Amino acid sequence: MEHNTRAAFIRQMLKDERSIEPSPEFSYKAHLKSRQDYDELYRRSLTDPDAFWGDMAERHLDWYRSWDAVEEYDFDAPRPFVRYFRGGQLNASYNCIDRHLDGPRRNKAALIWQGEPSEEVEVFTYQRLHREVCKAANVLKSLGVQRGDRVVLYLPMIPQLAIAMLACARIGAVHCVVFSGLSAEALKDRIDDSGARVVVTANFGYRSGKILRIKGVCDQALAECPQVKTCLVVRRIEKRTTMEPERDVWWDDLTATASPACEPERMEANEPLFVLYTSGSTAKPKGIVHGTGGYLLYATLTMKYVFDLKETDIHWCTADAGWITGHSYIVYGPLASGATSLMFEGVPNYPKPDRFWEVVEKFGVNLLYTAPTVVRSLMREGERWTCTHDLSSLRLLGSVGEPITAKAWLWYYSAIGQGRCPVADTWWQTETGGVMITTLPGAVDMKPGSAALPFFGVEPKVVRSDGTPAALGEPGSLVVTRPWPGMMQGVHGNEQAFKDVYFPTPGRYVTGDGAYCDEDGYFWITGRIDDVINVSGHRLGTAEIESALVSCAEVAEAAVVGCPHPVKGEGIYAYVTLHEGVVVSDELRIQLASHVREVIGPIARPDVVHFAKALPKTRSGKIMRRILRKIAAHQTEDLCDISTLSEPSVVADLIRENERLS
Ligand code: WT7
Repeated sequence: MEHNTRAAFIRQMLKDERSIEPSPEFSYKAHLKSRQDYDELYRRSLTDPDAFWGDMAERHLDWYRSWDAVEEYDFDAPRPFVRYFRGGQLNASYNCIDRHLDGPRRNKAALIWQGEPSEEVEVFTYQRLHREVCKAANVLKSLGVQRGDRVVLYLPMIPQLAIAMLACARIGAVHCVVFSGLSAEALKDRIDDSGARVVVTANFGYRSGKILRIKGVCDQALAECPQVKTCLVVRRIEKRTTMEPERDVWWDDLTATASPACEPERMEANEPLFVLYTSGSTAKPKGIVHGTGGYLLYATLTMKYVFDLKETDIHWCTADAGWITGHSYIVYGPLASGATSLMFEGVPNYPKPDRFWEVVEKFGVNLLYTAPTVVRSLMREGERWTCTHDLSSLRLLGSVGEPITAKAWLWYYSAIGQGRCPVADTWWQTETGGVMITTLPGAVDMKPGSAALPFFGVEPKVVRSDGTPAALGEPGSLVVTRPWPGMMQGVHGNEQAFKDVYFPTPGRYVTGDGAYCDEDGYFWITGRIDDVINVSGHRLGTAEIESALVSCAEVAEAAVVGCPHPVKGEGIYAYVTLHEGVVVSDELRIQLASHVREVIGPIARPDVVHFAKALPKTRSGKIMRRILRKIAAHQTEDLCDISTLSEPSVVADLIRENERLS
């Protein structure tokens, strides 16, 4: 489409199209061809979940032993629990690799890896992946890792990350991937909490042409983790690396002599597959525990229906495998489906803003799954970066991480998908394991900005603060009233948190998001309603950032809120009060922001540090975040009720300083 026509097209759509039908060509070939197809399966998944999931599990996964019960749960109990396929036995790595080796998929590309340097590409066929995973599994065993042990993986986006995950799964060890952009302190906390004795890392990494000292950060963390006996180091870049002789071993050295055969462990369906840490409203991140059978089935089934996966597709999920999106849609979903998954080490705008489109063209990517923040930032670069590339291989576009605005949606749909590809918005969370609410492509009409309809087995509801159902169009809290197979099974080492955080009132899982439902049953997600902010699709607990700030000697008190940001979705706005006698300066502002970066990682660096004389509090001493959020967003006309404030003059001071800062 020509630029002018496209601009007119977008304007037209924004004006009078409330919904867009999937193209007949797409629907004709899709797994779900119509709204009726979806409705039927969805209804069956709710009326007879045992039959539905039992049947799906038989058809989509390979089992050593069948289960004794399909779905068991109690959301009302003092200790809520959820279980799928009790007594069933399977192995996730077997399902992701071995079972594809008998037929034509043996020589199919399982993983295509594109390094940041464009000449670095590796292709792992299923056969090659099998060898590599078996070797790594044997190495882990030789280091004493046993079934049930946790292993921390602090690795950048290199194939060894996927290989190490699958190697853990093969021997029944529980991987805990820590995003390689997190700081030494964050890594140390996660190693401690997980109880891991073995850590896998890489000597260096690349980011935007710069070399990252990954092992250096890891060393800093390990200096305070004497319980870690072994650190396995992948040689990503040929460059001098300091090794601790008692503790550090090279991945290359050990895998070179390891046997390429390793029998997979037979795991009970509810034994943990992995722990993944995520931020919440508490100062400490929580280790979300996912089981084996339910999770793998859910990742596989959503892969098939949400992305309309076909045998010949090249699927590219641009997330880092250090987040749940990468776990489910770079590794487990695609590989359990026997698909080809593309793993990319680089970033969207290096060396130039057309890197993504170059990769799409180079590999003929069919399914592209990315985040609204990426769409917005590339949209700003303009179409001169997209029009020089052949994007005709694209068949479907996915979006995840935060609400996608209608404008970004339409740009994605028209400039990238050229009006041919359905856009599947996908709402879900680390805790949910896989996609929960989505625009089932081919089957349902798309409404730009709406995450659309629930996936099979998912029963979301919007409720008011008193728990009663919200009316159509009325925003409320998004909850889920029954379990689904991808659901988290608990919080690692903290049973109480599972109940307190997710089941504060009995009977339903609380997501922490706000939403409303329209007259067609479409869900519109409005964003977090708890103390979590969403920066470029990354979830950050405000309490975590606050605790990093108050760990500075100068800081007396801190309150962090999200503020609107054109590219990142939300920015980080930190209100800080200082101890008596500390002098306010721009250096101190930078120092505090850098300190947060050090403690948590670059993504947590505050955009604004606002020095305040005092914070607005209720008479009982609770910080009024609602007011702080409004001031940060410059919405000061309607501060509503400030009558409960102990000192109303505080607010005027804050508004004045906010105006000065912007
Ligand atoms: C939070 C979960 C697994 C997804 C990647 C992030 C927000 C996610 C959407 C969407 C609106 C979304 C929610 C959610 N979110 N996807 N399509 N539309 N909001 O996983 O780090 O666990 O964060 O991301 O607020 O609760 P996560």
